[in-house]
Amino acid sequence: MSFMRERPINALTTEVMRRRHLRRVLQIEEQVYPRPWTHRTFISELAEMRNGSRYYMVAYVDDVMVGYAGLMFSGNDAHVTNIAVDPEWQGRGVATEMMLDLAILSHERGCEAMTLEVRHTNTAAQNLYRRFGFVPAGVRKRYYENTDDAIIMWAHGVDTEEFMERLRLIELRRPV
Ligand SMILES: CC(C)(COP(=O)(O)OP(=O)(O)OC[C@H]1O[C@@H](n2cnc3c(N)ncnc32)[C@H](O)[C@@H]1OP(=O)(O)O)[C@@H](O)C(=O)NCCC(=O)NCCS
Repeated sequence: MSFMRERPINALTTEVMRRRHLRRVLQIEEQVYPRPWTHRTFISELAEMRNGSRYYMVAYVDDVMVGYAGLMFSGNDAHVTNIAVDPEWQGRGVATEMMLDLAILSHERGCEAMTLEVRHTNTAAQNLYRRFGFVPAGVRKRYYENTDDAIIMWAHGVDTEEFMERLRLIELRRPV
């Protein structure tokens, strides 16, 4: 599935993640996480896409892959499993665009809620998620590397028109 929305960054496009993307995905993954996912993890997640329980996407600016993100569907929930942007491309709205795609997809799939875990010190990511209506709902102690706590965040009412209105406002407010 591809989304034909207007984008703030010239020539930002998104497409479904494929095996051929993984070399570049892993380059980014290894730059941004202390415990990066392995090639094997991505392969197994991509395999799950076939039964519809996952959705992974990549974002390009022209012919450079700048980020990727993914969802796991379980019951009426969509779980954001991973979202990452090349450090050189951060702060320019790439993650916002990917979250818009994931949120629209979750709405279209009839999900009632979206959820994710985020490192308690990761304020950049938490601010991004707040804009999409995620609120903190609990803590998983020592979730990361057996030291850092994870904040569990939820966005409810993903299946409502109010949620779509929030997404439209995010699209309107982004800098051009
Ligand atoms: C978290 C992460 C994905 C955010 O990616 P990003 O592309 O930098 O995010 P965005 O640019 O969309 O949004 C970040 C900020 O940039 C600002 N911004 C958005 N578009 C912008 C633009 N065109 N120009 C300047 N700033 C912009 C936004 O206001 C936003 O600030 P706010 O969320 O505090 O309001 C990225 O920092 C990352 O990959 N981190 C490492 C991996 C990680 O921690 N992932 C999350 C795991 S839970």
